[in-house]
Amino acid sequence: WLAPAAALALGYFLGAIPFGVLLTRAFGAGDLRTIGSGSIGATNVLRTGRKGLAAATLVLDLLKGAAAVWLTRWLFPGNEVLAAAAVFVGHCYPVWLGFKGGKGVATLMGIVLALYWPLGVVYAAVWLGLLATLRISSVAGMVAAFSTPVAAALFNRFDYVLLLLVLALIVLWKHGDNIERLLAGTEPRLGRKDG
Ligand code: G3P
Repeated sequence: WLAPAAALALGYFLGAIPFGVLLTRAFGAGDLRTIGSGSIGATNVLRTGRKGLAAATLVLDLLKGAAAVWLTRWLFPGNEVLAAAAVFVGHCYPVWLGFKGGKGVATLMGIVLALYWPLGVVYAAVWLGLLATLRISSVAGMVAAFSTPVAAALFNRFDYVLLLLVLALIVLWKHGDNIERLLAGTEPRLGRKDG
């Protein structure tokens, strides 16, 4: 039981590092949780007007997802699915922020890349494709998340289908406010003044 528990702890505490909050605070861009959607991900960091900080948040949130899987594969092989679930939950529900974290989109990108890279390619294509055309971060993220269990089944990686379906459902759950705004027609688009 030691290796699974260690993989869970490693994943959770890596995931719970709130890079968006730490970077915006360190570089004097304010308290992310009082800005825009109040979320702690790269999309909301972009609303501070600091593109470099947003890019760094995206990369670091992605890397922590990948690192949890890579480190577990190296240190506790066979427990990658547990670590993937834990790093995702850590990001979305960090103990340090009263369990109010991010929405999981960037971290999921890193997770799928590290689990089985073709899944990462599908995720990136769906995510970036929708981001470039629709320019609505929440829609791009939610659709990309649900593309991963489908892609896993198509690639015969049935060992990952249940995990990715559960993670996509958490992504959907975390986007409750965004879905309300989408239905009301008030969800901001990236790059707009109100975005
Ligand atoms: O990755 C988060 C994104 O899907 C939505 O972020 O800040 O617009 O709620 P936000």
